[in-house]
Amino acid sequence: MSFDPYDWAKIRVENLISKIDIIKKDGLKLSPGDMWSIKKFLIISYCIGGFVPIFRKYFDKFYYVDTHCGAGLIKFSEPELTEERFPGSSLVSLLKSNDKSFSEYFFFDEDEESIKTLKDRIEKLSDVIGSKIITAEKKEFSQSVNMIEELNGFKKAFLVVIDPIGFKEIKWELMQRILAIDTSDVIFTFMTHVVARHRSNCTLDNSYGRSLSEFYGDKSWESTTKGEELMAIYKNKISKFKKFVYDIPVFQSGNQVGYHIIIATNSKGAGNIVDSASKITKVKTEMIGGGVKVVTNKTHEISEFF
Ligand SMILES: C[S@@+](CC[C@H](N)C(=O)[O-])C[C@H]1O[C@@H](n2cnc3c(N)ncnc32)[C@H](O)[C@@H]1O
Repeated sequence: MSFDPYDWAKIRVENLISKIDIIKKDGLKLSPGDMWSIKKFLIISYCIGGFVPIFRKYFDKFYYVDTHCGAGLIKFSEPELTEERFPGSSLVSLLKSNDKSFSEYFFFDEDEESIKTLKDRIEKLSDVIGSKIITAEKKEFSQSVNMIEELNGFKKAFLVVIDPIGFKEIKWELMQRILAIDTSDVIFTFMTHVVARHRSNCTLDNSYGRSLSEFYGDKSWESTTKGEELMAIYKNKISKFKKFVYDIPVFQSGNQVGYHIIIATNSKGAGNIVDSASKITKVKTEMIGGGVKVVTNKTHEISEFF
């Protein structure tokens, strides 16, 4: 069957937007994000759909851990979409159907207001979310890593979603501890344009260099200034811990890569699922924007994608 990236994205966008109708006008805090964030959410949703049946087959407990969960909703900068909202990673995970649910969900963010807002939204959406075991707490990334290590044990697995604003709080020492857990699958937003912009400001002895060295855990970033190559170096470091590591570029608009979603797993089955997700690469931010406008009745069907 041929894959139509516009239709694929529009159906999923419609499904998610329809579920958040009762909270979209709550006036509470919103998380950073825009049209290009939706591709990331669709990738997270796709991975959950593929990974959960595998987790269920091999593990007694499997946990969803969102280390930078945000407040649950994002907005759009386009003037005609100012009233519209889209669910963030936390709600996307909770809005999956019951047969794709985890044993437990952990939502962490260092920002107290985001956690309070997320809890409020989860409560209001309780009919759609159903009975799931959910913990939402203020926690800085390093504390989330400690919690994952404490929870780890026999026949337990994790999907850890790491979606930071930049890169400075993701020290390699912390990332490495998550990757070292055999049964942790990781979805990581590598902020390619932020890392590359930061790299271009570096002289080796200044603070710009120090934060990159903490992020990479070494000075491997010194060998290039190009965003794609900086991402590839990081991905290569991850592949020392995980057998299957993939990256999916997300373009802010046109050909400018904003970030890469890096997905890492030791499971061959999960790897195959991500491999076939490469078709999501064909979904362009402009198509998603078109889909959102059609779904929210801002425009009629967009003919240029047919
Ligand atoms: C890009 S937003 C995440 C958005 C969220 N995943 C979503 O889908 O809407 C990044 C979040 O990271 C949080 N944050 C920043 N530094 C952090 C840290 N060191 N530990 C935990 N959370 C942090 C911010 O408060 C913000 O909510």
